[in-house]
Amino acid sequence: MDLDPKIPQYSTGDPNSFGWQTGRRRWPIIITQAIDDTYRAVAHCPDPEKQTEGKRIVEALTKLKYEVQHDRALTPLPDDGYPDIATYNAELEQLNSPTWLKSPWLYTECYLFRRIATSFALSSHWKNYDVFARQKTSTFRSSRPAVLELAARYKDLMSQLQNHPDQPREAQELLFAEMAEICLWGNATDLSLLTSLTYEDIQALQGSEARKKAEANILVNDLPSCFAHLLEAKQSGKKERRVDIVLDNAGFELFVDLVLAGYLLSAGLATHVVLHPKSIPWFVSDVLPSDFAALLNALAAPRWFYETPSGEEELQGKTPEKLSDKEVEELGFLFQEWSRFHAEGQLVLRPNRVWTGPGSFWRLPKEAPELVEDLKGSEVVIFKGDLNYRKLVGDAAWDPTTPFTEAIGPLGPGSGLNILALRTCKADVVVGLPPGKDEELKALEDGGGDSGARKWAWNGKWAVVSFSKGS
Ligand code: F6P
Ligand code: MG
Repeated sequence: MDLDPKIPQYSTGDPNSFGWQTGRRRWPIIITQAIDDTYRAVAHCPDPEKQTEGKRIVEALTKLKYEVQHDRALTPLPDDGYPDIATYNAELEQLNSPTWLKSPWLYTECYLFRRIATSFALSSHWKNYDVFARQKTSTFRSSRPAVLELAARYKDLMSQLQNHPDQPREAQELLFAEMAEICLWGNATDLSLLTSLTYEDIQALQGSEARKKAEANILVNDLPSCFAHLLEAKQSGKKERRVDIVLDNAGFELFVDLVLAGYLLSAGLATHVVLHPKSIPWFVSDVLPSDFAALLNALAAPRWFYETPSGEEELQGKTPEKLSDKEVEELGFLFQEWSRFHAEGQLVLRPNRVWTGPGSFWRLPKEAPELVEDLKGSEVVIFKGDLNYRKLVGDAAWDPTTPFTEAIGPLGPGSGLNILALRTCKADVVVGLPPGKDEELKALEDGGGDSGARKWAWNGKWAVVSFSKGS
């Protein structure tokens, strides 16, 4: 806490903040979904001992929901054997045992997911159970049209890159921007926010048409400086050039992260890509190492993945449409490319419990010096998504015109870290806007008006792409 920005943080007690709505409306839905999932898993479980334990987990989650809805005090987390529990509990003490609906939003939301994780970690049969896996898989299946469209585009691009490796700089820059924007907008469909989206809604958000329209919605776009930086490193003849991606969500977003990673490697803008997933189920849809494996499995056996009816489809008597041979071949191409990069060590996964801590990334240099040292070896560390952005800027109520380089504090210039944030806005905090922009957006329909609420920034429709050079 002492290391965080000295600007007040967003609170679940402020009726104008998205945290207020999150605590009262979204958290109960998220916990209910976890209860339903566990209940379903218990019902299908043949082992009586495991069943009994599962029922206890359902009880623990139900109690948690009661505590949130009745604005009870946050209680110390039970020790599940991992050292971050002590960090969570020390901060809770410093905060003076706040109640759920009147507390720092960032800390409390991280606490919520850490607490859900303890319910499973403390069992013997459910330790590695991912309570959100079912939701992640089903949303990824819903992304089928966008996945197929991108698979075709990717294969085509890779052959162009192979046949014409020496493109003029402008062409290379355009391609980099396209890949990075695909990767950016993949963040618009995260499960914790879009709890009520239909299959059609998800598809409408993901196609290339949607992306073109959305270009005007990128409020800050530092992609040209990031490209210049990567190109300069390539032209300098440096042998090893690494790009890190601090991942956000599984399914479609991970798919587009791999599109970007594969492109960077194939275009020679990076020689290695390090992916940073989470170690526990996190903010519903975040990537776990098992989600990476599941994605590759789906690409390896696309007919099985897309054509086997889900439980729901069976109930509705629906048969999924068959994939064409061309579509199967294009998905197979992605599988071969990405699994080859992975097997050859150019694409690696590096989980770290630091990413599921309670606080801002301002704390990293003091609390995770080895990690920061390691990230200094990267040409660019890409932070995906809303939560990573909130942590970068400390979830503080900055003036929106504050430069990004200032708002990331000790990770900014002079830190030795080159940081690119690719974020669609799904929370109040935003920095780096030109003067007057926030007011302009607030004046739009549903933008928040004079209410004091920055509503335009809550729905993933607007985005910011901010770059900070560490030298
Ligand atoms: O619940 C709040 C929140 O942190 C929002 O900021 C965002 O809507 C969501 O959870 C997570 O978004 P992302 O997956 O982009 O980090
Ligand atoms: Mg997420």
